[in-house]
This record gives sequence, C-alpha cells and structure tokens, in this order.
Amino acid sequence: MWLPYRCTAKYVAASFSRGVAASFLRRARSGCNSAAFMPESAGFEGASGRDALHDYSVTHGESFWAAVARQRLSWIRPFDAVQDCDLSRGRIKWFEGGKLNVSVNCLDRHVHTCPERVALIWERDEQGSEVRYTYRELLEMTCRVGNLLRRHGVKKGDCVTIYMPTCPLAVASMLACARIGAAHNVVFAGFSADALAERIRDAQSSTVITVNQGVRGGKITELKKTVDAAVRGCPTVQQVFVSMRTENRVEMTDRDFALEEEMLKEDVVCEPEPMDSEDVLFLLYTSGSTGKPKGLVHTQAGYLLYAALTHRYVFSYHDGDVFGCVADIGWITGHSYTVYGPLANGGTTVLFESTPVYPDPVGEPINTEAWEWYYRVVGEGRCPVVDTWWQTETGGICIAPKPSEPDAEIVPGMAMRAFFGIKPVLMDTEGKLLTSNNTSGALCMAQPWPGMARTIHNNHQRFIETYFQPYPGYFFTGDGAYRSEEGYYQITGRLDDVINVSGHRIGTAEIEDVVNRCTAVAESAVIGYSHNIKGQGVYAFVVLKKGVDVQEAELSKQLNSMVSEKIAKYACPDFIQFAKRLPKTRSGKIMRRVLRKVVECDLDSLGDLSTVDDPAAVQEIIEGHEKLLSK
Ligand code: WTA
Repeated sequence: MWLPYRCTAKYVAASFSRGVAASFLRRARSGCNSAAFMPESAGFEGASGRDALHDYSVTHGESFWAAVARQRLSWIRPFDAVQDCDLSRGRIKWFEGGKLNVSVNCLDRHVHTCPERVALIWERDEQGSEVRYTYRELLEMTCRVGNLLRRHGVKKGDCVTIYMPTCPLAVASMLACARIGAAHNVVFAGFSADALAERIRDAQSSTVITVNQGVRGGKITELKKTVDAAVRGCPTVQQVFVSMRTENRVEMTDRDFALEEEMLKEDVVCEPEPMDSEDVLFLLYTSGSTGKPKGLVHTQAGYLLYAALTHRYVFSYHDGDVFGCVADIGWITGHSYTVYGPLANGGTTVLFESTPVYPDPVGEPINTEAWEWYYRVVGEGRCPVVDTWWQTETGGICIAPKPSEPDAEIVPGMAMRAFFGIKPVLMDTEGKLLTSNNTSGALCMAQPWPGMARTIHNNHQRFIETYFQPYPGYFFTGDGAYRSEEGYYQITGRLDDVINVSGHRIGTAEIEDVVNRCTAVAESAVIGYSHNIKGQGVYAFVVLKKGVDVQEAELSKQLNSMVSEKIAKYACPDFIQFAKRLPKTRSGKIMRRVLRKVVECDLDSLGDLSTVDDPAAVQEIIEGHEKLLSK
C-alpha cells in the first residue's frame, strides 16, 4: 500500500470510536443570523434564520443555487444557466456552460492554502493503527495515479471500475479518474465475482483497480482472485492495477500491473481535464425492485456542490474538525460523506477500513433506544445525533434534523426537516397530493436539486419509468413517509421490494433470481424482516418442484452458497422456509403483503384475505414459519 514517506504505518491510538454505523460529529454548533450561519446567503433578501433560508431556497431556487455554486466551487469557466430541468421527462441539467475539475476542487485549492493539513486519517483494520495523509500528499498520489491511467490509455469519458476496500489509494483512484475526466464505478468489495463482472460489463470498463488482498474484521479476503474470476467473463477489460494491501504475493498475469511500482514512475503533477458541469463523474450500481442492478449516473458540478453543502450544514462541519463517516466507499454514503463532501470543504476525513461488527457488534436501525445510547455513550450527551434520509439516487442528504433554528428540537429516530432546495411531498395511492399534516403517503420530491442522479447508465427509459412516471412531475423515492402534526418527516420504509441489510441495499428480486436458478426450486419469495443488528434480515420462502426429493438442510446450504457466489455473503437468507405453495391472488400474483406479516409475526394484521386463491395456503405458511422459528 502506498504510504507517505513521513509516516510509514504509524501506530497510534485511533482517535475515532470504532463500531458505529453512522456519521459522527465532533463538535456541535448552531448559527444565529443567516449570513453568519451561511455566508452564501448574504444577498438573499428577507432570508434571516434557517427556516426563512429554506423557504428562500425552494421559492427562489435559481438565485439560491447560483449563489451557492459560485461561492462553494472553483470554476474554470462560469456557468451560463443555473438549471434546465423537466421532471416529467427525467431531464435534469444544472450549471450548463460551466467548466470545472472536481479533483481541483477537492485537492489543489486546499493545497494552495494549507498543504500540510491532514486530508485523510486512515484507520486500518488492525486496531489502533492509523496513517495520515496531508492534502499535498493526497494530491501527489492522485496525480501519479492520474498520469498512470493516462499513460495506459484511459481517456476522458472512459469508465474505470474500482474494486477496493476503503483506503487512501481508493480515494486517490476516484480523484484520479475525476482529474483526467474518466468516470469511476466503485464496486463494493464484498460483492462476488459474478456481481462484479456484471457491473464491469454494464459499465464497459477496460480498466480495473484493485488490491491484492483485503483485510476486514481480522479476515483476509482474496480480492485480486475475485477480480481474476470476474474478468474472465469481461472481454472489455484490458488492464488491472493491483495495490499491495498485504505483503502476500498474488498471481499476476500480463494484463496486471503493480500499482505502487507503476506510480513511482509517474510525475507528481497531472494536468486536470476541464469538465463540463454535466459530464459524468461516476456510476454507482444500486438495487431496485427488479433483478438487474441499475448504474445510477451522477455528474460533476451539481453532485459535488450538493455533497459539499449538505456535509457542511447537516453535520455543522467547520474548519479544523475531524469528520468521520464510517460507511464503505463502495456505497453512496462513502462517496458523498467520506470522500467528496469533506474533501470539497477542505476537511479531514476518516477512512474506516474495518466493519462495525468488529471487534464488537453494534446495531444498525436508528430506533429510539439506539438513538439514546448513541447520544449518551458515543456523543457524550454533547453532540446532536441526526437521522439522515437520502438515497444513491439523491446524491446527498435530503431530509435531516439539521440545519435547524438554534435550539430547535431533535426528535429521536426522525429525519424531520427538508434540506435547502428540497421540497418533499406525500402522495396518496391515487396519486393525489396529501396536503395535511399527521398523514402518511408515498414520499416524492416536487422540485429538482443539483445532487440528484441524471440517468441510469444505458437505460434512460428505466430511469423515467422508475422515478418519474409513478407521479408525473415529481421524483418518486420508492419510500413511504409519515408527516407529523408539526410537519416533520419520518421514513416508514420502502414501498417496493428493496431491503437494507447491514446498510447494504438489495432487491429481494435479485435474491429470488438466484434461488430460482437452482434446479430443485419451482419458485420463491424473499422478504425482508426487522433484525436487531442488521436492520433487516433476509427470509426466503422456497417451493420445490414436484417429485424433488432432497434433504432440506443440504438444499439450504446449497442455496446459501449460490447467493453468496452470485451476489454477496450479506445477501444470504437468514431463514429458508420450504413450503408446498405460496399464497397467491386469483390472477397468480404472490401475496407478499401476507408473507411479510407472517415473517414479522404480525398475524393480527394479515388484512383482507378475500383475494387469496386458496386460504389454506396461508395457514400452511403460518404453521411452517412457527415450526422453523421453534427449531
Ligand atoms: C433507506 C443510502 C430510514 C430508504 C444513503 C432509502 C432510510 C434507502 C433512511 C436508500 C433513514 C435511507 N431512515 N430509511 N434515515 N435513509 N433509508 O441508496 O429506504 O443505499 O430508499 O442510500 O435506504 O439506500 P441507498
């Protein structure tokens, strides 16, 4: 692994509390007058105080975003138009005419003012070991990778797949892509070879960057071997750069290059590519309600601005703070709040290589109990805890208790308030706007904002159908929400079949697709259920083909290994219930609502069963479930 010459593997006590699956605030402050609180707002007439600023940001969106974009980002060429959006057609464009380079915004401008400020604190899996990188060192590392990629033919517009754990070279690789105008496609290093191959193929990457081995939770993972297996099914891949995270040698082929060795040959200056605001910055694959993951596309200026602004105001980030977001860089949280937001703001960001369940497990869901514990034990009663709602699609946080008026309340376990420029609305089942408070509905956004995804790679039609057709003129989040008497938002969960296992988003259809490939299986239904530690667990109902005679325990093992091979270990079912049949409607649709209630042991609210084709099927499912739990 590439280490700055000054501090090769310093072993000092970690400054950051381990095992917390949420962003951590070091200090809490609140603002009072608007211009002091938000310098960009100096010219906003009548916008004094946080609530007035929010009103201004949604009623005068153009002037709000123009001022913020001019002041927060460094432009090579100023933009001509603030926005050109039409949500009904899924057309989203911000800051057109403007040119900038994201890596310059995240690195060079801070190197000019404070080159020796620490940019990264890498808390390695080995407990108590951390390595620091200054802005100057991170820029040099980024430039070397940028030059290396250019020398190997990576051009503006290409897409580089990064399959690495959270580490400084992964950050430098992302920024190097941004520097030379290539898009990056970071794939979570827990994904299997098949899942990686699918993402490399869809992104049409010819270059992959990886590590020899990963170290997570004290265990070695063979990431290079996984890449080898993936690349066998990816004819587009021409070169693989391999960083050495451990000292163990791995097999290298003609197409493989030792990353650190190659970097030494490169210059520490790399000319940044001037990029259009709407050029692609990255693809990030995420799950939807169908089997195929979608490559959401984020672009340069709008994404960076939104990540920086939310990082600054939701977390009350100030110069000199150390900011820790312990999400993996393979997910949007790692992109926006480990890498782009903090670095755009010149911050010091913690890279957490390990896992929240090592050495001791900590739970995921932010229920009231977890909130209180986190507030008292981790924050020592002096840090606000903010439950932030957002998605891969939104680019950054859209609903969070902060920023708020000084001394405004924070209700445990509620995302509460819309961020600047965000206008959430709730819709009823007929697609009508719900205007009153104390009501629940489908959560949509009534206005575009700069951080939102622009399309699904290679499939704009799916983008429109998923997000803009359900409620024409609005962006549909896929989540349900409750709006309280006071007008605060609380997320009630997905309205589709997407679940969240230990922070990993996965479509139940993806798991079903794999289970159904087993020759003994006739059909299956996968359901998420509340799980104390993982947030949600995976429960699979499996119906076998007629005449199949297999040991259930053996088959369960086989199904688990198939899911782990095709997707990832975290997607493996916690429970597999074999059933003779599944409850269906007369038209043959599996009644997931009923299965969900059974799995949640909420038999009193099974609801209307009059549409079930054969009510006996429900009884069988209930009995089978009881039997499985009592085992
Ligand atoms: C869920 C993660 C409850 C939601 C940033 C959303 C939440 C999905 C919250 C996106 C929250 C996100 N409370 N549920 N505060 N924030 N979610 O794309 O269902 O990995 O649609 O982005 O996580 O997951 P993704």
